[in-house]
Amino acid sequence: IGSQWRHYAECGSTSDLARSWALDPEAPAPDGAVVTADLQTQGRGRRGASWRAAGGENLLMTVVLHPPYPVSAAWRLGYVAALAVADALAELGLSPQLKWPNDVLLAGNKTCGVLVETALLPNGEWRAILGIGVNVNQTEFPDAETFVYPPTSLRMASGRTFAMDEVRQRLWEWLERWEDIHRSAGDFDPIAAGWRRYLAVGAKVRRGGETAELQDIESDGAARVCLHDGTFTVWRTVDG
Ligand code: BTN
Repeated sequence: IGSQWRHYAECGSTSDLARSWALDPEAPAPDGAVVTADLQTQGRGRRGASWRAAGGENLLMTVVLHPPYPVSAAWRLGYVAALAVADALAELGLSPQLKWPNDVLLAGNKTCGVLVETALLPNGEWRAILGIGVNVNQTEFPDAETFVYPPTSLRMASGRTFAMDEVRQRLWEWLERWEDIHRSAGDFDPIAAGWRRYLAVGAKVRRGGETAELQDIESDGAARVCLHDGTFTVWRTVDG
């Protein structure tokens, strides 16, 4: 990860720039190429949400990957990325937890979100456009109370300020490690096992308008949840 790296002071979305680079016929982004920015004006999240982050204090990055597996397995990368973030944060002395499908929590609040997109090449190959946003040193979040999982940052959770280079470097290392493991395994099992070490058991998860408590991660990435009436069920898709 990071063999080629483009950094921007400001951009719309690093995922848009990464996509154009991946599709550039002259000099396409290689496997592991990274785009980062200090500030995004059009940062986006899952479900059409926007991703707002103050400039210079947060990690905003998108990685282009050339996965050897079929595009139908692209969803696994959201779990690979969240797990890599969790290991990087643990190494920095924090106590992250993972919440289905792809969020990283610190003390129950959201510090990182992941957005998996794909790009199809004219020759039929595909690329993963893996967007990761980590709140690092930001301490004021407008409208924080309107979120189900209010935003937090590494600094808010620990009282320490972090060097952006170090957070980025550790994340790249863990991402490379986990994606290597994932590629050689050829299935989701090692990622599911990694997830269980950090799983936010009992955390409130949402699908459509429904909420439930997270219990476990299945071998296909589905969430085993407990509903309000105490029954257990499996949520296989994110959108109901
Ligand atoms: C979510 O939790 O909804 C996913 C948020 C993903 C945000 C990152 S920041 C870098 C990359 N560029 C974007 O526009 N989005 C992702």
